Amino acid sequence: MSNWFIRIENLSVHIMTAISMPICSGEKACSMPSSCAIVLRNVSLPEGRVADIGVMDGIVTHVGAAGGPADRTIDCTGLMVLPAAVDMHVHMRGGSQSAKEDWASGSRSALAGGVTVVVDQPNTIPPITTPDALCARVFEAKSHSLCSFAINSGVTFDTPVKAMWSVGAMAFGETFYAPSSYGEAITPEELTTALREIQSCCALATIHAEEIASGEDHDLSSHDRLRSCSGEVQAVRDVGRCNTVGCRLHFCHMSTHASITAAAGLGSVEVTPHHLFLSREQFAPEDTLGKVNPPLRSEQERKNLWGVWDRIDIIASDHAPHTSGEKQVPFEKAPSGIPGVETMVPLLLAAVLEKKIPLADVIRKTSQAPAELLGIPLAGFAPGNRADFSLYPKTAVPIDPDMLHSRCGYSPFAGLPAVFPRTVILGGDVVYDEGEFHPGSPAWFPGKGFFPR
Ligand code: NCD
Repeated sequence: MSNWFIRIENLSVHIMTAISMPICSGEKACSMPSSCAIVLRNVSLPEGRVADIGVMDGIVTHVGAAGGPADRTIDCTGLMVLPAAVDMHVHMRGGSQSAKEDWASGSRSALAGGVTVVVDQPNTIPPITTPDALCARVFEAKSHSLCSFAINSGVTFDTPVKAMWSVGAMAFGETFYAPSSYGEAITPEELTTALREIQSCCALATIHAEEIASGEDHDLSSHDRLRSCSGEVQAVRDVGRCNTVGCRLHFCHMSTHASITAAAGLGSVEVTPHHLFLSREQFAPEDTLGKVNPPLRSEQERKNLWGVWDRIDIIASDHAPHTSGEKQVPFEKAPSGIPGVETMVPLLLAAVLEKKIPLADVIRKTSQAPAELLGIPLAGFAPGNRADFSLYPKTAVPIDPDMLHSRCGYSPFAGLPAVFPRTVILGGDVVYDEGEFHPGSPAWFPGKGFFPR
């Protein structure tokens, strides 16, 4: 369990002499601490027991009665305490796209939504398709991010897969099997070749699977028709056929129950909050705030998606902010994308309070499952776990875009009920409390192929 993350203050990206911190040996993890940096008292654990959780050096050291003396104690009576979320599909923008979002605003948005680890997508400008670009992206995130992060490699016909893996790419993709905002599609032949190389690294390929018909894209209905449900199903099957070598596949933002069925046996499936909580019928026909790829579907399809809730492996936000100015243009010219990292867990917790889904499912799909899939150490309630927690009240409030932290300043989820965290703990430090941010020690999680030079 050593060397699993890089404290970013120790990271010198350009010479890549990263210093890894062994932080969790078996003996230390299980011993009763004489004192803790922080103790969470009266935590209601998912199995129903109430316990104190002691934390030292960023790791859970004690779970049980009376955790001993501590520098700081937090009484969690009446709160929902969750292992903090890993959002494995986030577009943090930055660089020349900083008017939409940058690492500072995007990571504040993540923390204020109970997310302590984000996985950044590579369709930046320039795209993350060379080792230098990936190292520069790590450096940019290291300099500005308040939350922990991982960076994916882009996948184009000429991406040097092995080199990207060795400089710390977490996973490959989202790989555009159909074009999207800032993402050019690759051909089936190129995908087949790329999957062979990704498989030879034992890495994960993440796929944006869509099929696009030609026609006028003038409102939410035509957008839904041109990037259809049946096209998504077809794309999933085609990608499966390109995977001649059995590469580990993950299907991003599946928007229909039929594509989740089609992906069974081919790879893991991710669903976004916007496909679960929004339908195109909830918007005026030409409202560009609802324009996203894959498109918002019909109300009936949205209900069908909830019908396969148990078969969804992971919920991720596909946080894809654009400026309001970019969205205030005729529909066909507007970029696709919806901001959502801050509202993902809050929307799901409102559904928990409404008794629509169990709390354990939210923990599984937003924290444990993405961490396991990516090889990030688990946050949770056992000694040795990463001490990232979010503490939520048991009351929902309507989403008010003015209260959110993304630079884009709008939310298509406005007015929906949501439960926002009161306190967020990252690596044992309180980094967000009652609307205030505090300094912490975010980490970079490189992929398993990382080879410090
Ligand atoms: C994403 C973006 O804006 O980067 N847009 C979107 O509609 N989802 C790209 C993508 O994930 O397709």
